[in-house]
Amino acid sequence: MDETRDFFDEMAPHYDADLPSLGWDPVALVRAWPFVAPPSTRVLDAGCGTGAVLEHYAGAARTLAGFDLAPEMVRIARRRRALRDADLRVASAADDWPYEDGAFDRVVAIAMLEFVERLDSALDELSRVLAPGGRALVSVEDLRDAGGTERERQELRYGRFPLWRRTFDDLDVCIPPELEIVCAERVRAYTVIERGFACAYHVVELARN
Ligand SMILES: C[S@@+](CC[C@H](N)C(=O)[O-])C[C@H]1O[C@@H](n2cnc3c(N)ncnc32)[C@H](O)[C@@H]1O
Repeated sequence: MDETRDFFDEMAPHYDADLPSLGWDPVALVRAWPFVAPPSTRVLDAGCGTGAVLEHYAGAARTLAGFDLAPEMVRIARRRRALRDADLRVASAADDWPYEDGAFDRVVAIAMLEFVERLDSALDELSRVLAPGGRALVSVEDLRDAGGTERERQELRYGRFPLWRRTFDDLDVCIPPELEIVCAERVRAYTVIERGFACAYHVVELARN
C-alpha cells in the first residue's frame, strides 16, 4: 500500500500531461457513458487522482467529493477552481470509506479498483455510501488485454506495487446483492509502455436498490 501511494505521489505532477501519450482519457470515458448526474445530486469520485473526472461533474448545484490514496494527487485536485468547494480527502478504498451511509447519489471509481486486493470489500463500501436509487460507474482491469491476450492475475507493477486483473465473472461475484448491473462494456484502456500492450477495462454501471 505504501509503495502504491508513493508511486502515485511521484506520478501526480505529470499524470494529466502523460495521459494522451498512453492513449487513455478517463474524462472522455465518463462523457461518452450515458451516466447522468442530475442537478443537485451528490457525486463521489473514489480514487479521484488529480480530479479531472470529478471536475466533469462540477456545476448544476451538484455537491462534489473525492478521495485518493495519494496525498499529492489530492493536493493537485484541490488546485482546480471547479473543485474549490469539493470535499477532497486522502483515504484508501481498501479501508472503510470515510462517509455516512447513503451519502451520495452517484459514485465513480475509474482506473482505481485494480489497486485494491479485496474487490468485494471495496464494492460493499461503495454500495454503503450510495443512496437507494443511486448509480455508480466503475472500471475493473480485465484479465485479458485489449488484444485479447490473457495477462497475470496479479502483477507487481514496475516491481513495486501489486495490480489485480479480473474477469467479468470475478467482478460479478463481488457485487453485493443490493447493486444491480445496468450495463457493462469492455473498453481499451491505457498502454502499459514497459510491457508493450494496451490493457482493457470492464466498465460497469451499477444501480443501488
Ligand atoms: C490510474 S489513476 C486514476 C485516477 C482517476 N480516477 C482517473 O481516472 O484519472 C489511479 C488512482 O487510484 C489511486 N489509488 C490507488 N490505490 C488506491 C486506494 N487503495 N484507495 C484510493 N485510491 C487509490 C491512485 O493514487 C491514483 O490516483
